Amino acid sequence: MKQAINTLLQETLDRLASLEDAQELERLRIEVLGRKGKVADLFKQLRNSPAEERPALGKLLNEARSRLESTFEEVKSQTAEVPRREHVLDVSLPGRVPQLGHLHPITRVSMEITEIFLRLGFEVVEGPDVELDYYNFEALNIPKDHPARDMQDTFYVTDSIVLRTHTSPIQVRVMEKQPPPVRIIAPGKAYRCDSDMTHTPMFHQVEGLVVDKDVSFGDLKGVLTTFVHQMFGPEVDLRFRPSFFPFTEPSAEVDIQCVICRGEGCRVCSATGWLEILGSGMVDPEVFKMVGYEPEEVTGYAFGMGIERIAMLKYGINDLRLFFDNDLRFLEQF
Ligand code: PHE
Repeated sequence: MKQAINTLLQETLDRLASLEDAQELERLRIEVLGRKGKVADLFKQLRNSPAEERPALGKLLNEARSRLESTFEEVKSQTAEVPRREHVLDVSLPGRVPQLGHLHPITRVSMEITEIFLRLGFEVVEGPDVELDYYNFEALNIPKDHPARDMQDTFYVTDSIVLRTHTSPIQVRVMEKQPPPVRIIAPGKAYRCDSDMTHTPMFHQVEGLVVDKDVSFGDLKGVLTTFVHQMFGPEVDLRFRPSFFPFTEPSAEVDIQCVICRGEGCRVCSATGWLEILGSGMVDPEVFKMVGYEPEEVTGYAFGMGIERIAMLKYGINDLRLFFDNDLRFLEQF
């Protein structure tokens, strides 16, 4: 019903915009607003809709009707003044250049990140957005009572199926499927029940995983340092700060020098001079055990970063919501 009201409103407004003369206008007015018109029909249908929905629907329909009435009046006053418009073809006018679309900034940054790792010998893989609790949590050494599993954060589809809250389950899927060595990068969407200035329920991450004989924390530092320098420029400093993730041990978060104040301290970096860009660490032996790898024989590192965050820092964008509003004035700057 709500859909029908909105469709009628939109369609009529569209038709009004392309009207040719007063006669057509009157015909359309009777078809929509007349005594037996489409709006009257909807009012009739209203009587059959559930009682608890009726007040809201009635309000919506009333609003649609007055909007249409006033638009009809407006168009009428304009058409009245101008005599019937002739179809004129001016062959001397310049042609219309069709507008070309382009990739969304998030897609572009995601490709940029992926390309850097492709050059470093990584392979791109993907995993499902709708994920088993087992891959999203259990196999990543996140126990049942871990706060990340809270209903407030995780979108549960059923008791055992979730919308993945990070791209890390892809690590497990890859290791289950192939023996070491592994060297993968996995871009994709992640979902958390969170929505404010700096969080959207859907966002993007890139996951990385390397497993082989004798992979060290030094390798992790080397690869991520190369990444930061290629992404943000060779002059940008970075630091590894001890942190915790259930699936890596030891764990570190990587900060880069604030791109706004270059480390001086400003509002964006809360006067610290540093901005966090990713989580990382050495793959926890518990995770290796879950996938049937031999923790005595292989080591590995993993990392995960938020694409929106990288894009905001790289392009100096201060509002996350701009990525999702789809305002062409914003998108066309890329
Ligand atoms: N999955 C973690 C997150 O979403 C990031 C991470 C990935 C940390 C891999 C360590 C290793 O916050």
